[in-house]
Amino acid sequence: MPEHQERPLILLLTSHWVSMLGAALVTLAGFSWLFALPANIRGHAQNPYIGLLLFVAIPMVFFAGLALIPIGIILAKRRVEQEFATLPDRHAAWRRAGIFFGVMTAANVLIGSQLTYRSVEHMETVQFCGQTCHVMNPEFTAHLLAPHQQVACATCHVAPGATGWLKAKMNGTKQLMDVVFNKFPRPIEGGLESNKLVSSAATCEQCHESQVFIGPELRTITKYKDEAANTRTETVLMMQVGGGRFGGIHGAHLGPGVHIRYAAQDKTRQTIPWVEYRNIEKGVTRTYLASGAKPDVAGTLPVFEMQCADCHNRAAHSFEAPDRAVDNAITTGRIAPDLPFVKKTGVELIKVNYQTDEDARQKIPSSLANFYQQKYPDIAAKRASDVQAAGNALLAIYQHNVFPDLKVTWGTYPNNLGHTDNPGCFRCHDDSHATADKKTITQDCSACHQSLAMDEASPEILKTLGVAETSTGVRQ
Ligand code: HEC
Ligand code: HEC
Ligand code: HEC
Ligand code: HEC
Ligand code: HEC
Repeated sequence: MPEHQERPLILLLTSHWVSMLGAALVTLAGFSWLFALPANIRGHAQNPYIGLLLFVAIPMVFFAGLALIPIGIILAKRRVEQEFATLPDRHAAWRRAGIFFGVMTAANVLIGSQLTYRSVEHMETVQFCGQTCHVMNPEFTAHLLAPHQQVACATCHVAPGATGWLKAKMNGTKQLMDVVFNKFPRPIEGGLESNKLVSSAATCEQCHESQVFIGPELRTITKYKDEAANTRTETVLMMQVGGGRFGGIHGAHLGPGVHIRYAAQDKTRQTIPWVEYRNIEKGVTRTYLASGAKPDVAGTLPVFEMQCADCHNRAAHSFEAPDRAVDNAITTGRIAPDLPFVKKTGVELIKVNYQTDEDARQKIPSSLANFYQQKYPDIAAKRASDVQAAGNALLAIYQHNVFPDLKVTWGTYPNNLGHTDNPGCFRCHDDSHATADKKTITQDCSACHQSLAMDEASPEILKTLGVAETSTGVRQ
């Protein structure tokens, strides 16, 4: 059959429809990729969905196509063998096919490795983690305000090394499926809660030295009262951070030889009935039980070793308490401090249970304007732009902390660094945790901070220190 002599072996090999489909997919992906080359080189796309297409969908099509070609060849094996036997110059046919496959393989390896490299790189970006995957929107939004905004999500959420990477990818694939099939919990579990958090030794301690001494830190907390005048007060604390052999807050839990373990009753670790302190340098072990807890309680509950993230659990994406958020907005000038009752009314408005984000957008600024129109028509008329700005600031606070579609609201994710909004330090330091011989985990205020002023209008100490304007950031 003469036409067979004309037909190159390569066409014969890929004559099965599966191979042809594969070749078409590879070509399609290859061209799409070339077309998008500029964005590829940047490794970043403006729009998160274009990112998803470029760095995830195209590579998937490319590799699927590549895999189909040999499958088609195997499927067509019988027919290929029959036709091959009829070829006159099999040697030359093999050589031509070999060269063709060689060149194509080299090109595919080149394009393929680029695709893989770029897509792996893309999946580590804050954009991919926080924006493409809308369920992470609360953390993405909070991360923008955090001192760690330059630290990528993957730095804390993926353990270093190949196994950590693989584990994260497998986890991520499962999460992606849960999102696609709408099976994910709302709100999604806290990292400590799901027990999937990478240990602080592999994350925080890569950048922060755990034994470093940090001197006392001045902490001022500015608040405004629920009065017409929004009277301003300051609390001034000197935090005894310490570290290493110098004791203090860090040294007490993480100093040389110190290991603290605790058992938690609930998944968010807010109730802690059992604590064990061990200092292997000094050879001491003390076991503390919360009053009423059974001595064998640790045997029945999960036990954890204390690490940075037990206190700094919201280091990268901290959500605020409503009154603190409004206080911060007043201090930083986003809300005028002399609008009557702006603190009280503002907190009330952002605490309302709005059905959707759109609902909040329509109601928060307009309700504030209505409040002034009804109660202070004078101010509503003369200071319309201040009222408008305050309304917008309140809406922004709401949108940074409440995500109705994901059931994330005030207090969903507790911050353990402190003891006023959440149990925090007092989960253990509550004077109820005691050893058999009645030693307790201290609640002595000055062990953790010198209280230099408590809710004072204009504390002497700030004048002495020459600290005039203060501002409280989000607690990390
Ligand atoms: C500096 C380290 C760090 C960085 C950077 C970081 N996280 Fe986290 N993340 C944590 C810790 C610690 C927790 C555990 C919080 C808890 O359980 O209270 C957590 C928990 C989470 C959770 C579980 C829900 C929750 O809020 O507890 C999600 C989702 C999450 N992070 C997403 C992100 C995303 C998206 C980014 C990037 C925009 C990011 N994280 C960046 C440390 C980090
Ligand atoms: C990739 C490096 C990196 C990692 C990982 C990292 N940090 Fe940081 N962290 C920084 C840098 C840089 C700053 C200083 C940011 C600034 O002051 O603007 C910082 C600041 C802080 C601060 C001070 C915040 C403030 O209010 O000024 C705390 C607390 C902190 N980190 C704790 C943690 C904890 C806890 C973890 C682990 C969950 C962690 N960091 C992981 C680099 C890192
Ligand atoms: C027992 C709870 C606890 C543990 C565990 C802990 N910290 Fe802290 N850390 C604190 C407190 C409380 C402060 C003071 C916060 C303040 O200034 O209000 C602090 C302060 C800091 C600061 C200085 C913040 C600043 O404003 O400059 C850094 C950085 C920090 N911690 C990092 C870490 C790292 C890294 C680890 C783990 C190696 C860790 N901490 C473990 C409670 C803890
Ligand atoms: C999981 C339990 C637990 C939590 C939570 C906890 N601690 Fe501790 N803390 C301990 C234990 C145990 C000791 C050591 C007790 C001993 O010496 O036997 C300790 C000791 C201390 C000391 C030294 C006290 C002294 O006697 O001088 C300070 C300071 C301290 N913690 C601060 C904090 C701060 C601040 C927080 C919150 C940010 C906190 N702790 C949260 C368990 C905890
Ligand atoms: C185990 C350590 C610890 C003990 C004990 C402790 N505190 Fe605190 N306290 C903290 C930490 C941590 C913060 C948070 C500081 C920050 O904002 O970063 C805090 C914050 C505060 C604040 C500021 C509250 C606010 O609205 O922000 C006050 C007031 C306060 N403590 C009072 C006390 C008093 C009074 C006692 C004694 C009964 C006490 N604390 C005992 C660790 C402790």
